[in-house]
Amino acid sequence: MIVDNLGRSFKNLRVSLTAACNYACTYCVPDGKRLMPARNELSADELLKLVSFIQQAAGIEKVRITGGDPLVTPKFDDFLIGVSKLPLSDLSLTTNGQLLLKKAAVLEESGIKRINISLDTLNPLKFKQIARGGDLETVLAGIAKMQALGIKIKINMVPMRNQNLSDILRLLDFSLERDIELRFIELMRMGHLLHDSSYQQEFLSMQEILDEIATVYSFQRADAPFDSTAVRFHIPDKGYFGIIANESEPFCTACTRLRISSDGYLYGCLSSSRRQSLAELLELPSHLVLPRLQRLLVSALGDKQLSFQGETTVMKFIGG
Ligand code: 5AD
Repeated sequence: MIVDNLGRSFKNLRVSLTAACNYACTYCVPDGKRLMPARNELSADELLKLVSFIQQAAGIEKVRITGGDPLVTPKFDDFLIGVSKLPLSDLSLTTNGQLLLKKAAVLEESGIKRINISLDTLNPLKFKQIARGGDLETVLAGIAKMQALGIKIKINMVPMRNQNLSDILRLLDFSLERDIELRFIELMRMGHLLHDSSYQQEFLSMQEILDEIATVYSFQRADAPFDSTAVRFHIPDKGYFGIIANESEPFCTACTRLRISSDGYLYGCLSSSRRQSLAELLELPSHLVLPRLQRLLVSALGDKQLSFQGETTVMKFIGG
């Protein structure tokens, strides 16, 4: 295993299948930008090969499929079924939920047990303003369908002061009623937000989110796994929620994440644009692959930081 001087190693791999998305969320892309695939996206087979190499070289135990939105690409089905056959302790998916109904059969076939769904509001009008694509009803129907299949759902919400502050409690009630763990993600300085004054205006800290929740609920801090990115809270007799407090309580020093972009680059840190190309591994004779990959992994681990610095890299390329 490759370990750095803070004891960090890679355990969780996030694979972005495509940079394409059927949304254009305000925090992800600037006005008017459409979300296209990256220029040289790899096929399902190529991505599966890379995942398998990394699993062997780094001892990866957990894989999360992300995007863009991973469900918009035709390679989704093949990738999902392929990755579900690898010896992993955990397979999960992050999606905006727009295509869950259409993909229900293959999701069931894969045996996937956990899906995170991004949902920033329960108000249909605000939904259109924030996501700038898709519609709320379809997401809600997708959530219900996945729960009916016995898949564990988490909801990711990005609270923003001027866009969805009043949805914090609405989404929390919605989630608690359905045995869903809601995760609030503090707005991150990524992509166009890095140099945009709207970041300061929209940012809501963990404390502000907790203050809003405290107007209705009492809660206590709960245990979370050591490499969890979320601070978890328990509302007695109701359930749990979490906050991914990358600004208020950075988790970089315990980060075990590694990312592959849809065009085959390895990223050791979400807050660094440094990356290593993996494309050459697909051409190498098999006995040379793992030694070469080991060197790339050492470099990627060296890219990890001590706190989130912000990055011009857009989340859609590396899938959060
Ligand atoms: N800040 C916080 N969260 C973000 N996401 C995408 N961009 C940002 C950002 N700038 C969220 C998505 C998704 C998760 C993977 O990351 O909404 O739920």
